[in-house]
Order: sequence, then structure tokens, then C-alpha cells
Amino acid sequence: MAAAWLRAVFLAAVAASAAEALGLDVHHRYSATVREWAGHRAPPRGTPGYYAALAGHDGLRRRSLASAAGGGEVAFADGNDTYRLNDFGFLHYAVVALGTPNVTFLVALDTGSDLFWVPCDCIKCAPLVSPTYGNLKFDVYSPQKSSTSRKVPCSSNLCDGQSACQSASNSCPYNIEYLSDNTSSSGVLVEDLLYLITEYGQPKVVTASITFGCGQVQTGSFLGSAAPNGLLGLGMDSKSVPSLLASQGVAANSFSMCFGEDGHGRINFGDTGSSDQQETPLNIYKQNPYYNISITGAMVGSKSINAKFSAIVDSGTSFTALSDPMYTEITSSFNSQVQDKPTQLDSSLPFEFCYTISPKGSINPPNISLIAKGGSLFPVNNPIITITDTASNPLGYCLAMTKSEGVNLIGEFYVWVEDCV
Ligand SMILES: *[C@@H]1O[C@H](CO)[C@@H](O)[C@H](O)[C@H]1NC(C)=O
Ligand SMILES: *[C@@H]1O[C@H](CO)[C@@H](O)[C@H](O)[C@H]1NC(C)=O
Ligand SMILES: *[C@@H]1O[C@H](CO)[C@@H](O)[C@H](O)[C@H]1NC(C)=O
Ligand SMILES: *[C@@H]1O[C@H](CO)[C@@H](O)[C@H](O)[C@H]1NC(C)=O
Ligand SMILES: *[C@@H]1O[C@H](CO)[C@@H](O)[C@H](O)[C@H]1NC(C)=O
Repeated sequence: MAAAWLRAVFLAAVAASAAEALGLDVHHRYSATVREWAGHRAPPRGTPGYYAALAGHDGLRRRSLASAAGGGEVAFADGNDTYRLNDFGFLHYAVVALGTPNVTFLVALDTGSDLFWVPCDCIKCAPLVSPTYGNLKFDVYSPQKSSTSRKVPCSSNLCDGQSACQSASNSCPYNIEYLSDNTSSSGVLVEDLLYLITEYGQPKVVTASITFGCGQVQTGSFLGSAAPNGLLGLGMDSKSVPSLLASQGVAANSFSMCFGEDGHGRINFGDTGSSDQQETPLNIYKQNPYYNISITGAMVGSKSINAKFSAIVDSGTSFTALSDPMYTEITSSFNSQVQDKPTQLDSSLPFEFCYTISPKGSINPPNISLIAKGGSLFPVNNPIITITDTASNPLGYCLAMTKSEGVNLIGEFYVWVEDCV
């Protein structure tokens, strides 16, 4: 987004006071709703297997970010990277309606990319029905079937693929490659109505004419169960949906996401936060358009820690991952202040510091806050994770932080709020 300030975007939803924010329901990949839709056989929530699965994806995302940052100019993988995965990973989904008559899509939300695309006039798309989706049947978009669809010519300023154009009036082609191995979407850009509803006052449907990809050929994990029905980019580029909504004056150039503990959440476009909300500047690099912030210190319980580092706020990462020396300073300070007994819960868990729950059954670990550049305090809502067995009996708890070999990531667990209204 153009504004160079991150207004603690993930925390804004509950406190939002903006008059014309627009919202969508969000569902986590492993939420009950998506599991029901998708018949996804995720490990039961709370178990070591569940957290191991989430952390497995984080590792991938971290290596990808590291390679992108190290190269200095590529946000997307080139042909020679060697990451292996058969799953696009840890994403949240929203249902969006497009066109006239409208067609709905269950799209993956990605703060790590910009373009919005849906399967369309398919040459190679994910199947529309599959045992892995349960009862769900997906739709495809077709420009011919929507009376409000318009072609986006090569002359459009949103057209990056001009070198592949024969003439200025041709439809603009696009081809986008993602960090995951061999994962891409290509087709032509189109413009049509996206339906949104107002968040405050009487709910009212508003439409915005937005440019998105008519995804004719998908590859890699887009042909599997990761983003079979499209992907919506929430990045900072002018092509991302928040930027497009802002450029049309439909919503302010900001958005907030709220993640509920049950995997159900909210995304609001145009949420400018509340006046008492804290701010920190983003570190902007045109080639690496991440939500990159600077941390100048931390508080762990009663101890103040002198930690200076930059970190990416990433909705696609579950667990905050810090590299040394910050990782060791924060975790050892936490460890020295915990009252409960250290324990090794399960070797599949990605966490180094786990504890037994005291017989009284209450957990009162030291609180953690990060101090962002400019002095804003970012209290970590959920520094710990309670681990359960498959029957949901608590086994213990762990500090929800993993060690990174490269890029520091502030993951979703640190910004959870209990209820997303
Ligand atoms: C984030 O910003 C810092 C400070 O400007 C920079 O050193 C770092 O490389 C950036 N990280 C990424 C992944 O772009
Ligand atoms: C990867 O590809 C880039 C450009 O395509 C090339 O410059 C680089 O040398 C390649 N790296 C390896 C390890 O093959
Ligand atoms: C989408 O179309 C259905 C009829 O097919 C209609 O009931 C619904 O209100 C439309 N949704 C929006 C957001 O316009
Ligand atoms: C990616 O594509 C290349 C060339 O098409 C192929 O050799 C490789 O096995 C693919 N990798 C995966 C993980 O599918
Ligand atoms: C952490 O903060 C919460 C809320 O502010 C408070 O209730 C709790 O007692 C604090 N824990 C410790 C160990 O200070």
C-alpha cells in the first residue's frame, strides 16, 4: 500500500471505528468451516501433529523469503530453486462474488503477493469437484458469461506483460510465478465487478470494478488443494485488491485482518484503525514489497531486552520466527522467568521451550511485548500455545516461537485475538 505506515493492521479489526470499511468473512485452512467444506484431513487442533504441520509450512515460507531477500530483486522463485512442497500451505480463505450474474469463489488470501486471479476459461485448472474438497463444488469464471466483464488491453497501466503483446488493443496477458515450487498462474487480465458489503451501519452491497487475472493455466500446488479456486493478493503493489479498491475511492488504502482462535476471522478493506492505535513505519523496498517493520526492543516479563531487528509481518506464517541473537535473548529471558517445570512434550513439535501445567491448572507465563520503531508497544497476545492430546486434554504449553536461520517473521499466533466480530 502506498501509505508507509503499518497501523498494527492485524489488530485493528476489533477496535475499528471507520465508517465505510468493507468486510469479508475469512476462514483458516484448518478451521472447522474449511475442513467441512474441503473435507481436509488436518490433524486435530491442539495436538503436536497439528502444530508440526503448521510449522512445516513456516519453514518453507522462511526459506523462500530468505532467498528473495538475499537476491535483492526477486520476490518470486525462478526456475532453479529447489523448494519442495505439495501444498501451498498455511492460508486463510474468503468467499468472494464476481460478475453479473455473480459467481462465487473460495479464494486464498496472500499478503505475500499482489495479483488476484480466479480459474477462468480453463485450459489447465484444478478440478471443480474432488474427494479432497468434500461436498464443495467450485465454479469457474468466464468473461463471456458476465455482462459486466471487460477486457483489459495491453495499453492499460496495470498491464505488466506488454512485451508479450502483439498490439495495444489485445487483451493483456499475465504470468505469475510464486515461491512454491513450479506454482504459477497465467492467462489474461479482465475487469469486472467485485461485490463487497459495508461493515458499519446498515449492511449494504457495494461493487467495485477491479482488474484480476482470468487464470487459464495453473501449475504446481494450484492444481492441488491449496488454492484450487483462486488467490487474492494483499500486497503493496498497485495491482493488489486493497490498492485497487483505494484507487477507485471505494475504501481507504488500508486493510485489517482479524484471526479468531477457531480459524474463523475477518478481513476489512479501508479500516483505518482507531485514533488511539499505535503506528510504526514500514521499511519499503520496491523489489521486496513485504510488510517489513523495525523492532527496537522487547519486554519479557519484568526484563527489558535490547533487541534491534527488522521483521516481516506475515499472515501466511503461523509462528513467530526470530534469528539469533534475538531468539536466544528473548527465549532465555522467558525461560528464566517461567514458574512451571520445563518438559519435552513431543519430538514433532517445532518449539524448544515447553512446560508442564501446574497442578492448579492455571498458566501465567511472563508477558512479551515488542517495541516497534517510533516507540509503539506491540503486546504479544498469545506468546504460548497449549498442547493437547487428540481427546483435547492439555499436555503442557510451549513458547510459540521458533528459531529462524534468516529472515525474522512475526507470525499469526502473535497477533491472534479471541473473537472476530
Ligand atoms: C527489512 O528491512 C530491513 C531494514 O531496512 C532490511 O535490512 C531487510 O533486508 C528487509 N527485509 C526484507 C526481507 O526485505
Ligand atoms: C539460478 O538462475 C539464475 C537466473 O536464472 C542464474 O543467474 C543463477 O546462476 C542460477 N543459480 C544456480 C545455482 O543455478
Ligand atoms: C448473487 O446472485 C444471487 C442469485 O444468483 C443473488 O441472490 C445474490 O444476492 C447475488 N449476490 C450479490 C452479492 O449480489
Ligand atoms: C518442476 O518442474 C520441473 C520441470 O518441469 C520438473 O523437473 C520438477 O520435477 C518439478 N518439480 C516439482 C516439485 O514438481
Ligand atoms: C500478563 O498480562 C495480563 C493482561 O495484562 C495479566 O492479566 C497477567 O497477569 C500478566 N502476566 C504476568 C505474569 O504478569
